[in-house]
Amino acid sequence: MRNVLVVNGPNLNLLGTRQPDIYGSTTLPDLETACRTWGERLDIAVDTFQSNYEGAIIDRLHEARNHADGIVINPGAFTHYSYAIYDALEAVGLPTVEIHISDVTQREAWRQQSVIAPACVGTIFGRGTDGYRDALRHLAFRTALPAVALAYGSDPDQVGDLRVPAGPGPFPVTVLIHGGFWRKPWQRDLMDGLALDLVNRGIATWNIEYRRGPGSWRETLFDVASAVDHLVGLAEDYQLDLDSVVLGGHSAGGLLALWGAGRIQFPRDAVGSAPAVRPVLAVALAGVVDLDAARRDHLGDGAVEAFFGPAIEDTMSPSRLLPLSVPQLVVHGTADDRVPVGHSRSYVERARAAGDSVVLVELEGVDHSTLIDEQSAAWDQTATLIGDHLRRSLS
Ligand code: DQA
Repeated sequence: MRNVLVVNGPNLNLLGTRQPDIYGSTTLPDLETACRTWGERLDIAVDTFQSNYEGAIIDRLHEARNHADGIVINPGAFTHYSYAIYDALEAVGLPTVEIHISDVTQREAWRQQSVIAPACVGTIFGRGTDGYRDALRHLAFRTALPAVALAYGSDPDQVGDLRVPAGPGPFPVTVLIHGGFWRKPWQRDLMDGLALDLVNRGIATWNIEYRRGPGSWRETLFDVASAVDHLVGLAEDYQLDLDSVVLGGHSAGGLLALWGAGRIQFPRDAVGSAPAVRPVLAVALAGVVDLDAARRDHLGDGAVEAFFGPAIEDTMSPSRLLPLSVPQLVVHGTADDRVPVGHSRSYVERARAAGDSVVLVELEGVDHSTLIDEQSAAWDQTATLIGDHLRRSLS
């Protein structure tokens, strides 16, 4: 992916002054500059275009065939009814990511339909203007190493991306579990960069989506368990070594990784079935590892209340279910302002007291999202530790 065209549709020229409570305070010129900077980091030259006219957008999309390898498009209100833009995207045939600044799923009913989505390889919404960065990353990573998307259930969110290194297997596997406080706008694209990096290190990755949203903790835990167990059916075809499975999660996904790895221990298993895969390591990156503390500190703007409802922690918090009896790697930056490093510190103390073997890596001055930046020293250190652990457990 070398050249990407970023298209903004009607009314987005007013960004910065248009309903800032919904669309934020970044202006269109600032957003377009940011897109070029994000592109540079990915080795992508970004071209930008904005128009309030449907025909002008279509003409620009046609022209993109001559020089672009991919498209990021926020069609504004055209999203909801322009079959002409849908047709243009289909005709042009370039991989396209649809982006919306606001969480269109939580607004008027008419905004919840996108007629262009079927012509796109992904949709990012509700992440503010930073969503454009994520859209560029998703385009870059899916082109660099295409994943096989495989369903592990019938719901559209019961799906994962499998990436396998080249050459002969069997390969160790890391299951990647994204964060985002169990809210809809945050999807598995967050872990694309790590997936690619791990595959380059010889480790297959299973980057899972899962059902999430207010009150949905049972479905979420069920999905994590099902997704991990689904590897059994994939092992032969994709040469996966199920004796070398790591579960790794970031932020709220850190909780899911610990829970998923330790569930063999738990009498109150939300799934009810015995786990089919026994992980050799659980990794929590800036993890929400202590639900009592997360609720007390009101993390993610009340995310624990929204997801679990009242007082469910006793059954579901890794910190209360110790020991997990699985080796753990807990990584946290001291400059994390979303999940305090103190949560990991006290979790690790308790896990060790309960007999678990836990490595705690505290990274001075590192913030919450740097841990999932595949270009960061923090991630390099984490990936090296995962690789070392896998090699040790193999020997
Ligand atoms: C939008 C959402 C659309 O519903 C709306 O018409 C826009 C912007 C967004 O970025 O959130 O103009 O695409």
